Amino acid sequence: MGILKYKDFPKWLDKIIYTDFKAIFEPHPQDVVYNPDQPYEFVKIYIGTYFPRSYAEAFCIVNNLLENEKYLSNIYTLEEVNILDFCCGTGGEIIGLIDVLQSKMPNLKRINIDAFDANPDAIRFLYHLIESVIDSGNIRIEININPQGIFVSSEQELSDLVNLTNVRYHFIVSFKALNEFVQHGTFKNKNVYSLISSYFLPLLSDVGVLILSDVTTKLNNSELFYPQVLNTSINEFISSCKNEFKTLYPYSCHFNEMICNGCYMQDVFTVSHSKKINDVSKVAYRIICRKNFADAIVAPHINYSCRKNNPLADKKSPYNY
Ligand SMILES: C[S@@+](CC[C@H](N)C(=O)[O-])C[C@H]1O[C@@H](n2cnc3c(N)ncnc32)[C@H](O)[C@@H]1O
Repeated sequence: MGILKYKDFPKWLDKIIYTDFKAIFEPHPQDVVYNPDQPYEFVKIYIGTYFPRSYAEAFCIVNNLLENEKYLSNIYTLEEVNILDFCCGTGGEIIGLIDVLQSKMPNLKRINIDAFDANPDAIRFLYHLIESVIDSGNIRIEININPQGIFVSSEQELSDLVNLTNVRYHFIVSFKALNEFVQHGTFKNKNVYSLISSYFLPLLSDVGVLILSDVTTKLNNSELFYPQVLNTSINEFISSCKNEFKTLYPYSCHFNEMICNGCYMQDVFTVSHSKKINDVSKVAYRIICRKNFADAIVAPHINYSCRKNNPLADKKSPYNY
């Protein structure tokens, strides 16, 4: 299939979102900066506008990872997959992930999902959506989610949440949510992306991956952009973790993270659905896993170029390999 940057929103999902749920497409970038206590009517706009983007982001990112044949061969035969989503909201990325795994893993029979979010209205949408997915497919899907929502307001609460689980995950994801913790200073002066990595990475299975994806806008009252903060913090964490974990993707970060001070990056995905043709989504993300696994997957001769080190790099295409 090659590197995927565009995804059609599936017809069956389009019907559920826009016909059954009566979701509304109405971009409100200034209103989605903080979401835990958004009311039901807003969540209908969120799901109609931003759910398809998260769906396409997850589908394309994981599809592109699966283009690595060594990675694919390590998970190809799995019959059961465990997923954890931190700050799932309405869960576009969960459905995108399920969809791409179903298309690439012929033996898959069961998917177990642990999902966490503060917003009960968003969770309710996700719950109904998963019921429809279960009805329409032949893979057994179990979702475990607290219907009242769990608001994480301190590192202690994050630690409690992580301690709730003794599962080893194949995918741990967090999409477009960690910026909300940065904005609100939830973890005081601790760095959000390193802290989240330090709590969630130990929960990965030997072939598991952590995908941290976030917005590419500027921080409030700062000259910095979120991708710079994400990259700086993850590089710091990887340097401090004594060869236990390593970036798998983008490949440029796999090779440069120990010497890199963090750069701006952005990847652009496009999705089409009944309310909008070619809706554009811009994100920055890192995929991290156990070091042994990353070293086995990334061939030393892989063709990559780092945007930061390459003055000729296309500024619109940071993952320019
Ligand atoms: C922009 S939404 C992204 C949702 C989903 N991951 C997606 O890509 O569509 C951010 C989510 O983070 C959740 N969130 C933000 N701060 C939180 C906190 N302190 N505890 C739990 N959830 C939080 C919000 O409720 C919201 O659903």
